[in-house]
Amino acid sequence: MALRLAFDVYGTLVDPMGMADLLKQDAGDQAEAVSSLWREKQLEFSFRKGLMRAYEDFGVCTRQALRYAMATHKLDLAGDREDELMTAYLSLPAFDDALPTLKALNGSYPLFAFSNGSYPALEKVLGHNDLLDQFEGLVSVDDIKSFKPDPAVYAYARRATGAWDEPLCLVSSNAWDVIGARAAGLKAVWVQRDSEKVFEDWGIEPSAVIKSLSDLPETLKHL
Ligand code: LAC
Repeated sequence: MALRLAFDVYGTLVDPMGMADLLKQDAGDQAEAVSSLWREKQLEFSFRKGLMRAYEDFGVCTRQALRYAMATHKLDLAGDREDELMTAYLSLPAFDDALPTLKALNGSYPLFAFSNGSYPALEKVLGHNDLLDQFEGLVSVDDIKSFKPDPAVYAYARRATGAWDEPLCLVSSNAWDVIGARAAGLKAVWVQRDSEKVFEDWGIEPSAVIKSLSDLPETLKHL
């Protein structure tokens, strides 16, 4: 049976820490710290809005998290700078292994991008990096107004990718996303981009662990 692949976007195909360079203008040597807190809070806000049944576009989580990260570091965003950074978020850089891996898999597996991001945001960031054409389709949580790791989101991904009889496999560098997918009955490969990163011990294991997307084609043969 043909395995269908659903790629997480932020952290897996494109790098949210790509904002750190731009933030140097606003945050100087705190740019890395602001960028990390921005990403951390963006995710936390999505989790909380999901739990509160108070869904808003992921871009709202991103904007609110940017404000929080800057305020925490006692920094200001003057004039149009907030909008500028939000626009730059739509052209985050892809990881080097993303395009070659998608090209290598294309034709052998149906490929989907599956993300908390809205369709316009996904089209922009994937299009900017020439990744968009590699996908058979995009699946955004915006269709069901909830966020990962709500099990309803993973069930929806199965439906939206046509994975009724075929297994669906998430590919994600986010351990919490892998745990969410596995708990909802999907296969899930964890991309351990950073060797220091620990997989959370919840007794729910990834189907496979790889260090880079480049290892995915070989790993999938044994899944
Ligand atoms: C995504 C974020 C959560 O769904 O990484 O793309």
